[in-house]
Amino acid sequence: NKGHYDHYMQKEIHEQPESLTTTMRGRLIRGGSSKSKTVLLGGLKDHLKTIRRSRRIVFIGCGTSYNAALAARPILEELSGVPVTMEIASDLLDRQGPIYREDTAIFVSQSGETADTLLALQYALDNGALCVGITNTVGSAIARNTHCGVHINAGAEIGVASTKAYTSQIVVMAMLALAIGGDTISNEARREAIIDGLFDLPNKVREVLKQDQEMKDLAKLLISEQSLLVFGRGFNYATALEGALKVKEVALMHSEGILAGEMKHGPLALVDENLPIIVLATRDACFSKQQSVIQQLHARKGRLIVMCSKGDAASVCPAESCRIIEVPHVEDCLQPVINIIPLQLLAYHLTVLRGFNVDQPRNLAKSVTTQ
Ligand code: UD1
Ligand code: BG6
Repeated sequence: NKGHYDHYMQKEIHEQPESLTTTMRGRLIRGGSSKSKTVLLGGLKDHLKTIRRSRRIVFIGCGTSYNAALAARPILEELSGVPVTMEIASDLLDRQGPIYREDTAIFVSQSGETADTLLALQYALDNGALCVGITNTVGSAIARNTHCGVHINAGAEIGVASTKAYTSQIVVMAMLALAIGGDTISNEARREAIIDGLFDLPNKVREVLKQDQEMKDLAKLLISEQSLLVFGRGFNYATALEGALKVKEVALMHSEGILAGEMKHGPLALVDENLPIIVLATRDACFSKQQSVIQQLHARKGRLIVMCSKGDAASVCPAESCRIIEVPHVEDCLQPVINIIPLQLLAYHLTVLRGFNVDQPRNLAKSVTTQ
């Protein structure tokens, strides 16, 4: 049921304040004293010790689910101290890459039925790793065959392009990082800031969703473009990949997410006054590096659209030469949840304006159950 919306993708983008609230329900505990701020993931509580002791955490997924894991990787590394590596399921299988008994393999899948992810799960089980699932579908193959896991509880997602599942996956993995990190004194302030940030996140999502019309206006400007680049780094490298994936899969426009740190190693050759480029430059430890990326793109007359934190327009774009998307500031590891939303809206409006099928893009399926 689409309610008053025209498309499922539109409905699912706009229901993210509610889906995120459901994802967190009963899992964040904030008592009277600051000490009692904790995370409780029922499905993992008996396995946290084993995960903390593992030699490595390996994230495995496809498409948007892979991108969600990539967004969560930095906070998991920071809070757990365990090395975290990333695997696209098909690539792990192609290489028959090493998976060990001392590994924790985390399988991320909205549907819980993606063939490549399931085969990678079988492979990791055969190799003796602890297998953890993060899925939206109770009773799915991944939920059944993993040793333990977390249901993201985002509600059914109908649009082929994943939107609300992506943000709920990130939130579950941020909670996972908090749970694995445990209650070390050195992390206490950081942990509390993240938990407070999680409580407030649905409000911040509501705020950024107000940019719907702005993103529609931007889509009108970009409607006839051949290509769109998205530059990100750090916590928002995943946002660049996921934003570009949304534009590609529904609006049928070539789009590429680029790690800004790699700009000089190739992508800079593409920059001219015609190609539109979105630069993600919200406040975090990488901010000054992104400011310098913007200057260098500007020096080459790049057609820039800069996403920055509220109030930062002048610091990212002094010459008023670029278009600005201002978003609310949240804790750095949660910023990807905010930053993807204008890009979801942009992809949605581009698709409608270009006259393509939003909910069932050409050649794609919601759940890819064959290899
Ligand atoms: C569970 C209940 C929830 C109830 C809550 C009350 C279910 C599905 N969930 O939620 O209805 O309100 O207790 O405390 O009945 N699992 C996997 N692999 C996965 C995902 C999950 O093995 O990919 C396992 C978990 O380890 C756990 C079970 O499935 O044993 C349920 O997981 P989850 O729904 O996340 O647990 P709770 O949040 O505790
Ligand atoms: C398909 C979907 O390609 O599978 C994507 O069209 C999705 O939206 C990908 O990200 C992975 O699916 P899942 O269910 O494993 O998260």
